[in-house]
Amino acid sequence: MLTCQRDLFSLPPELHYLNCAYMAPLSKAVQEAGIVGIRRKAVPHTIQARHFFEESDEVRRLFARLVNAEDPSRIAIIPAASYGIATAAKNIRVRRGQNIVVTHEQFPGNVYVWRSLAQREQLELRTIEPPPDSSGRGKEWNARILEAIDPATAAVALGHVHWTDGTRFDLEKIGERAREFGAAFIVDGTQSVGALPFDVQRLRPDALVCAAYKWLLGPYSIGLAYYGPRYDDGVPLEETWIARRGSDDFRALVNYQDDYQRGAVRYDVGERSNFILVPMLKTGLGHVLEWGVAEIQEYCRCLMGDFLAEARELGCAVEDEAWRGSHIVGIRLPPGLDLDAVQKELAAANVFASLRGSALRVSPHAYNDAEDVAALREVLRGVVG
Ligand SMILES: Cc1ncc(COP(=O)(O)O)c(C=O)c1O
Repeated sequence: MLTCQRDLFSLPPELHYLNCAYMAPLSKAVQEAGIVGIRRKAVPHTIQARHFFEESDEVRRLFARLVNAEDPSRIAIIPAASYGIATAAKNIRVRRGQNIVVTHEQFPGNVYVWRSLAQREQLELRTIEPPPDSSGRGKEWNARILEAIDPATAAVALGHVHWTDGTRFDLEKIGERAREFGAAFIVDGTQSVGALPFDVQRLRPDALVCAAYKWLLGPYSIGLAYYGPRYDDGVPLEETWIARRGSDDFRALVNYQDDYQRGAVRYDVGERSNFILVPMLKTGLGHVLEWGVAEIQEYCRCLMGDFLAEARELGCAVEDEAWRGSHIVGIRLPPGLDLDAVQKELAAANVFASLRGSALRVSPHAYNDAEDVAALREVLRGVVG
């Protein structure tokens, strides 16, 4: 069983940081990898042509292992989740009158691109609402999503969990339904991959897109995306030199090539071989792989269990465990509560979690311990008790 990993981080003991869904802290090893990268660039003569490729490919291999993708060349290095989703949207064929299915209050980076595609191509953007707060909300929301996917669906784009409250979407069933109608199945894994198991071979997304600065424990401004066979012949957002065949031969770069590199490498962002961010991301992925994704999820479940039971007793609503993750949990506070006051109480107790709508979003990780949760419990007792 995974034990608390706080010693590997620089979090001060009095800080109760329960907000990985906002931004993960950098471990000491990830910080060090970045510093080494800066030093290397400071005196750059040791950076050779092969360094533009080797570490990027290592990161592809690690991410492929994390999501059980067979072929690391299906992984692209992207600067942000929205970039990876834009690539997915650019490369689907649509017909007027088709629809795109997304979930209510989805993260904007996975909405705007579909909105503009829908406007441009005269498609319907179907936003699937959850039922009003009640027990069974997650189950019913999933049923509504399945119902909304029909023969006219061109794409289904959603997360594995909802970013505001952790509601879990049944990607196995949703993916099956999308495939039944030939719709592209696009998953934003930013709030789940690294903390909730994801198996590309089982769930078969056409694209799985992740920013790295949350659950992959990486730095900001880099991410990873898997693209399945549907995207094998697509066109990237940029036409980078490094994505073309033979780009590792620096002396022959002006022998311009029509062909791209294999698989999803064509979708890499320009300057993807970032000598600071890539080693940091590699180190973050190393933590996740070493600790184990299922173990991280279980660690969060054990850490939060009693606290969530008490939150319910205090009159808060929490989704059934079957329909949510344990790494992001939305605690819907009783109506009428002054949320600004709640925010102030949290800050006074040095507890960091996010208010999203009327829910308090708590997102722990393996660096959190029972003291963090005890501090949160005290605040909750104070404001709703
Ligand atoms: C579900 C989800 N996707 C993506 C992002 C980040 O998007 P980007 O990397 O485009 O800034 C966030 C950030 O909170 C998120 O919650």
